[in-house]
Amino acid sequence: MSELMTVETAAAAAYIVAALLFVLALAGLSRHETAKAGNTFGIGGMAVALAATIGLAIHQHISGLGLVLTIAAMAVGAAIGLWRARVVEMTAMPVLIALLHSFVGLAAVLVGWNGFLHVEATLDGGPLSGEAGALAAQELLGIHSAEVFVGVFIGAVTFTGSIVAFLKLSARIKSSPLMLPGKNYLNLAALAAFAVLTTWFVIDPALWLLIAVTVVALALGWHLVASIGGGDMPVVVSMLNSYSGWAAAASGFLLENDLLIITGALVGSSGAYLSYVMCTAMNRSFLSVIAGGFGIEAGPADDKDYGEHREITAEGVAELLGTAESVIITPGYGMAVAQAQYGVAELTRKLRDRGVDVCFGIHPVAGRLPGHMNVLLAEAKVPYDIVLELDEINDDFARTAVVLVIGANDTVNPAAAEDPGSPIAGMPVLQVWNAENVIVFKRSMASGYAGVQNPLFYRDNSAMLFGDAKDRVEDILRAL
Ligand code: TAP
Repeated sequence: MSELMTVETAAAAAYIVAALLFVLALAGLSRHETAKAGNTFGIGGMAVALAATIGLAIHQHISGLGLVLTIAAMAVGAAIGLWRARVVEMTAMPVLIALLHSFVGLAAVLVGWNGFLHVEATLDGGPLSGEAGALAAQELLGIHSAEVFVGVFIGAVTFTGSIVAFLKLSARIKSSPLMLPGKNYLNLAALAAFAVLTTWFVIDPALWLLIAVTVVALALGWHLVASIGGGDMPVVVSMLNSYSGWAAAASGFLLENDLLIITGALVGSSGAYLSYVMCTAMNRSFLSVIAGGFGIEAGPADDKDYGEHREITAEGVAELLGTAESVIITPGYGMAVAQAQYGVAELTRKLRDRGVDVCFGIHPVAGRLPGHMNVLLAEAKVPYDIVLELDEINDDFARTAVVLVIGANDTVNPAAAEDPGSPIAGMPVLQVWNAENVIVFKRSMASGYAGVQNPLFYRDNSAMLFGDAKDRVEDILRAL
């Protein structure tokens, strides 16, 4: 290579290209028409970043066994990643994402500890040498110690927080909020301990301080997410996404890797913005959610008796649809589980061919990931222009003959609008109960993700069509 173009400058140039590709990826992912291109930019950016980082590492310090181990670790990781991405069900994506966030957090903790072992642990009062000597010469030792602490703290909070999110989302533990007495004070005490320990560590970087902050942060991450109720989990997942970005940025400072800092900041800020947008859409306080349900108190258990529910058959629904002029379909998580979107698209075509006005009402957190229902409906070729957002369609229910609630529950629960004591009170919901007839497709009277009862099922204008949503939609198609 020429004198002007060293391996270091080539890597720096590649990092700038990768950073630009990541920005284009985020821009592309913000609209479904451009999402595929956004993904391609992201893959390209990551390929450039990996190639530049490995090239630089080989040039600077990795050789022999180190190189073999690095390539072997990457091959194993890539094989597992490829396999998981191929087999994961769409409905299990948030579970997988939560688990992946925990890896980023753990990596940040390990990078922080590694930084300590290379620098602070070598300070024995004698003359300074190696990395510690180089940092001391630039008067950067204190900054390094602060970076170690911040990286370990954010990483550990992300790690345990993501593990709890993984356990809740995969139903391995209950999704109801943990209500420890004085929970807000516990969180504040953990933050105060972090501030004190950091200052202490910068002055006197002792091992026990690092152990203490790791334990405090692990406990804080666990508690923050355990205190959040089921209905707020979407916001928590995107918040953890943001934390994992900041954890990566903290590692970037320790590893002196500019691209990691840029990428971490992009993930951190876009994740925080997505959480903010979701909080606004769900009428939740952003601060309350990031502070582990601050200000949310446990309400009384909802064991109210709502009376009897009415059942209907697929033939009965077909008859009702035969005379209806307007139909709104509100899909939810159950449509994804049943993979009923193709039947639903077919039913939509049939009804529209008969002159029925058919629309879809999509709640911002229907399903298990942002845009889940839009993706399924687009996959089944439902035209975009009849798929409407919550605020575009909510006034139309009162003028609608039949609403088909296909595997949705929390997102159509009137308790959110009418019962201030409900755990989901204040969350905007699709006001399906204002329609003339509401048909609810589900397998039982079980509650939805948030674990709260749904009075909709007992209303006079509601009828339950029990069974797997895909089978029932096909029965209706046959009866039509
Ligand atoms: P949910 O409240 O989760 O209810 C889904 C309903 O579908 C269940 O009551 C279930 O009843 C029914 N169901 C399941 N499998 C079915 C099948 N094969 N056929 C027919 N019905 C089936 O759904 P939702 O209204 O979409 O609300 C989403 C919830 O998830 C919200 O609480 C939201 O906060 C939370 N959440 C959302 C996200 C994002 S970002 N969207 C992420 C995490 C959590 P049965 O068991 O009786 O059939």
